[in-house]
Amino acid sequence: MSQEDANLEARLEEQEAFEPPESFVEQANVTDPGIYEEFEENWPACWERAADLLSWDEEYDTVLEDGDAPFYEWFTGGELNASYNCLDRHVEEGRGDSVALEWEGELGETRTYTYDELLDEVEDFAATLRDLGVEEDDVVTLYMPMVPELPIAMLACARIGAPHSVVFAGFSADALATRMNSADSEYLVTCDGYYRRGDALDHISKTNEGLEGVEHEVSDVVVVDRLGDDLDHELADNQHDYDELVADHEGSTVEPVSRDAEDMLFLMYTSGTTGQPKGVKHTTGGYLAYTAWTSRAVLDIEADDTYWCSADIGWITGHSYIVYGPLALGTTSVMYEGTPDYPDKDRLWEIVEKNEVDIFYTAPTAIRAFMKWGSEYTENHDLSSLRLLGTVGEPINPRAWKWYYKHIGDEECPIVDTWWQTETGGMMITTLPGINTMKPGSAGPPLPGVDARVVDAQGEEVDAGKAGYVTVNNPWPGMLRTLYNNDERFISEYWQEYSDEDADEWVYFPEDGAKIDEDGYITILGRVDDVINVSGHRLGTMEIESAVVGVEGIAEAAVVGGDHEVKGEAVYVYAIPEDGYEDREDELEEEAMEAVLDSIGPIAKPEEIIFTPELPKTRSGKIMRRLLEDIASGNELGNTSTLRNPEVVDDIADQVTSD
Ligand code: WT7
Repeated sequence: MSQEDANLEARLEEQEAFEPPESFVEQANVTDPGIYEEFEENWPACWERAADLLSWDEEYDTVLEDGDAPFYEWFTGGELNASYNCLDRHVEEGRGDSVALEWEGELGETRTYTYDELLDEVEDFAATLRDLGVEEDDVVTLYMPMVPELPIAMLACARIGAPHSVVFAGFSADALATRMNSADSEYLVTCDGYYRRGDALDHISKTNEGLEGVEHEVSDVVVVDRLGDDLDHELADNQHDYDELVADHEGSTVEPVSRDAEDMLFLMYTSGTTGQPKGVKHTTGGYLAYTAWTSRAVLDIEADDTYWCSADIGWITGHSYIVYGPLALGTTSVMYEGTPDYPDKDRLWEIVEKNEVDIFYTAPTAIRAFMKWGSEYTENHDLSSLRLLGTVGEPINPRAWKWYYKHIGDEECPIVDTWWQTETGGMMITTLPGINTMKPGSAGPPLPGVDARVVDAQGEEVDAGKAGYVTVNNPWPGMLRTLYNNDERFISEYWQEYSDEDADEWVYFPEDGAKIDEDGYITILGRVDDVINVSGHRLGTMEIESAVVGVEGIAEAAVVGGDHEVKGEAVYVYAIPEDGYEDREDELEEEAMEAVLDSIGPIAKPEEIIFTPELPKTRSGKIMRRLLEDIASGNELGNTSTLRNPEVVDDIADQVTSD
């Protein structure tokens, strides 16, 4: 550790609370602490404030319709178009020359789109999609990396009322097929490839492999040419080059379709407890109002800001806080294609400096990596344009928080640690940067109007300092409306645990553990289901397990998360070889790795695969996952005497620690 880091630690280590800097408060969008009470006293009408940030074609009649809870409806009777709200209205207000998207490729090339230009591109592609036969309510799958055509395609879909389903480009061919099958999606927009650490990655072969697994006919596939001569590939009969198609539709005018507030804007698949990913449905009115509102209140975004969220648009963070929220507010949203350490470890700071970024939003896993690389990478860059920092995706440890505060924010920027989920659509628990004291490691109080609590197994609120579970006891506009084609699973996944159906009291259960302090600040402890969080990405252990047991020669497997310095959690696989395969562990290991990459993708790559003749089980035959987690994390092991087979524990632990 450098001397400077040591000093910082000595000074900041003790400090547990930080006040928002005066310079920030003076200009913040939200500064009146009375907002919490106002929302509480005037609930649910308070949410009109969010709806007021949008332009409606038809005013809504009712803010919240709760007659068929938990199938809540927001802003019913209202009509609007998301692409109109993100584009046209800014142009109509005379802001067509302002920059909407500032894109940077990994190799250093840039593309800048003003609101005028982005609207043109969106109209051209909307016309293209229509011409291909896409109709209102058809689900269009977008399997695309971080190229400008991704947000363009999203907004084009929104313009014609076709919900999009974005599949993260890092996901495997199988994952693409599963999602297209589940959504009955007949249209796909994809890309020939993209750059990672300077290498051209072939994405089209993976796409084609995925398409083989689609059970219905896929009418058309549009392929963005990102790699040019760096990749040779041929297009099948139903595949079209993006630029060629769009060239035929240049200068099109496509009127934005008025959508009902409750019409689906998009689907986003996320991992759950079972092997089948869940298709989370978000709507046009509530979702857009909620992301715009939180972008304004929490991220403090204003139209003349340059704002950068370093997430991938393939995850909900990118949907809500690269595309919809920021563009609804008419700001400049930065988008970067590649990795943070290419060509060197200061790439992000170079981008901040060059674009004079005002607001930066990233994940704790990235911050831990920056910390590990050292502060010399930040020092050569002028980061003084920054006024607010944010994190999302996983708990941030106080050390990382303080490093971020000091080395990126120069102790002048508040940090918002924002807790939310794919299902919540937008932020739920976080400080308001112009109002609240910050406590590193704790996300903060629930947002105004959000009734999040920490409760025990019976649903009673726990005392300060005690661990419990997060619940949300009233609905909010950005909430998921259901799981696509699966209302039953929607209820059983989120509403069964704590609701009192007979009393018509519905409580949302996000499946996170947490603590609350005497000031009502909530510290998230992590998932309490079989979902792990690797670098801020949610992975279902069951999905990984089913991939592993699919390997011939593996009889049984258990997948758990173990602590990891940078990733937060890493994937650990414990596997039992079938009889006769015991001496072929190297082969099995290779095949199991391959199987995980094939069924999910590189983000799920196991840190270690540990072979064992038995898994530790309770007397009733349940695998002791907690114990496996402790072994993977290198924790001290508790009492193992309740196990049916305590002798296997030492054997497994030896293998993990001996590496
Ligand atoms: C899970 C949701 C929200 C977009 C990115 C992830 C964890 C999220 C925080 C935070 C502690 C957090 C939770 C949550 N999580 N934000 N600030 N502090 N944990 O979305 O893939 O739907 O995952 O991420 O465990 O349930 P997601």
